[in-house]
Amino acid sequence: MTSIGATIRRALGPYERPVAEAYRRMFINLDDLAAAIRQRITPARILEIGCGEGALAERLVHDWPDAHYTGIDIIGHLGRMYAGPVHNVVFRQVTAQDLAPEAPGAFDLVVINDVLHHVPTPLRPEIMTAARDLLCPDGCLLIKDWARRPTPIHAACYAADRYIGGDPNVRYMSLDEQRALIHDAFGVNAQIEECTIAPWRHNHAFFVTRTTF
Ligand SMILES: C[S@@+](CC[C@H](N)C(=O)[O-])C[C@H]1O[C@@H](n2cnc3c(N)ncnc32)[C@H](O)[C@@H]1O
Repeated sequence: MTSIGATIRRALGPYERPVAEAYRRMFINLDDLAAAIRQRITPARILEIGCGEGALAERLVHDWPDAHYTGIDIIGHLGRMYAGPVHNVVFRQVTAQDLAPEAPGAFDLVVINDVLHHVPTPLRPEIMTAARDLLCPDGCLLIKDWARRPTPIHAACYAADRYIGGDPNVRYMSLDEQRALIHDAFGVNAQIEECTIAPWRHNHAFFVTRTTF
């Protein structure tokens, strides 16, 4: 069934892109996220799991024009809104679990931004394990997700994902649940650096280093 969001977006025609960017900015500043990544890593081979229509892809490719970027997603229209350079950029409809045996250790940066809360809970550990296997030995995994907190913006975010986006799987995790998911895949000694991303402290980023397990 088509979601309310998809119907509205189609009706917006040429205004879809600026409206979609403004809508997203209500919840996360993607430029702030890109800057947080830039401060910590200089990747040559980037994988984005759950790249969607390419909003973050554009920032990553802009920041590292010489890096190879691969975006994967389960949706059919992935990369649809991507408007950056196309050399060194690949979008593929494939799961991380299927890509991992094909390209073990192939990436030095794996990004999972605003994806896990859309994934059915039993599948989340599988995606984490696949992300780990896709990283090269000194690679870094960035997970940014929305932390569950009892606030009005949290309720707005849930309503947006559940009713405007039309996702019946949406379930946010506490920070401790997110840390446990990382430790289960990367080991208890995994080195994790954490920070928040504007404009809400719900936006919590984990930088996990591959060398630590
Ligand atoms: C809010 S969008 C985020 C898109 C992109 N990461 C960004 O920040 O612009 C969430 C994406 O997660 C994708 N997704 C949901 N379940 C997934 C799964 N099991 N594997 C890969 N992607 C998934 C959805 O199709 C959707 O495109």
